[in-house]
Amino acid sequence: MRKFNPKLAKLISLLSDNQFHDGDALGESLQMTRSAVWKMIKKLQQYGVAIESVKGKGYVIREQLTLLNPEIISQHVQRECEIRFLESVSSTNAYLKKILSSSTPIICLAEHQTQGVGRFNRKWYSPFGRNIYLSLRYQFHKDISELAGLSLVVSLAILQTIKQLGVQQGIWVKWPNDVLFEQAKLSGTLIEVQAESHGTSTAIIGIGMNVNTLSDDNQITQLWTSLQKILGKYIDRNHLTIILITNILDYLARYDQQGFNAFKDEWSQADCLTGKHVAINNAHHRIAGKVTGVNDLGHLLMRLGTGEIKAFSSGEATIAK
Ligand code: BTN
Repeated sequence: MRKFNPKLAKLISLLSDNQFHDGDALGESLQMTRSAVWKMIKKLQQYGVAIESVKGKGYVIREQLTLLNPEIISQHVQRECEIRFLESVSSTNAYLKKILSSSTPIICLAEHQTQGVGRFNRKWYSPFGRNIYLSLRYQFHKDISELAGLSLVVSLAILQTIKQLGVQQGIWVKWPNDVLFEQAKLSGTLIEVQAESHGTSTAIIGIGMNVNTLSDDNQITQLWTSLQKILGKYIDRNHLTIILITNILDYLARYDQQGFNAFKDEWSQADCLTGKHVAINNAHHRIAGKVTGVNDLGHLLMRLGTGEIKAFSSGEATIAK
């Protein structure tokens, strides 16, 4: 795990003006030795940042790359929480699992994950500086058995954020934890819950959102998209992060008090599966049917061939062609 280094953000910003900078000039601007600058450049290259280097001229970054700004984000999130910024970590979920419980929500944002994980133990593509890798450790005043529908509520908070950024059409939630643009995945959530004493519980809520990714180097196996692809412009991740954290904390506070029922209508309006023929895959089997909606627990309701309506609490839904 590496903590966020403000000098790295400054180096990137210096190199992003489309002009070459040599080691001495960079060292002077950053008040570092030439060799310390060189080490930072090597580190960025290891993270996959394309730094052009020409002998006698120096270094330049041609792609657009602006790192998260901890000061701006912390200042503008006007909700009670602690935010930790990391340059690189195995996984933001794994990081938060190791820390002690606290009644204040703790958020971890990383610029890069070496072992980002998705549902069903899939890898989550986590290139440096492009997307959102956010985990939140949240304590609920509920027993673990009452956390039904949590992943749906988180998806709704993400959807609301994306709408506030200007994507109004073609944006959907897909049970239980995806946000899609048309049929391509924009964001996913991985939730891990832990029981605590006195009827409380803690969830580690990990959110991955494709923001400024234009190419996945063939690493994503699902149909995907990113905000930059949809909106056709480079996205300010600071602004996005402030809105995302605010929405998540507001949605979770309401969910903690009122449960999933309070969000059922919002879900129905944004859900892409209702009325569709779908196959559900889970650990044991694959069952096909027509989706009729979700119940009060956020379980997916499907009418099977026999006419029976069955509720599913987990699994992966695929729309039949
Ligand atoms: C999925 O749709 O499969 C869930 C993806 C969740 C990815 C996020 S990125 C931040 C957090 N850290 C992880 O390792 N995973 C989640």
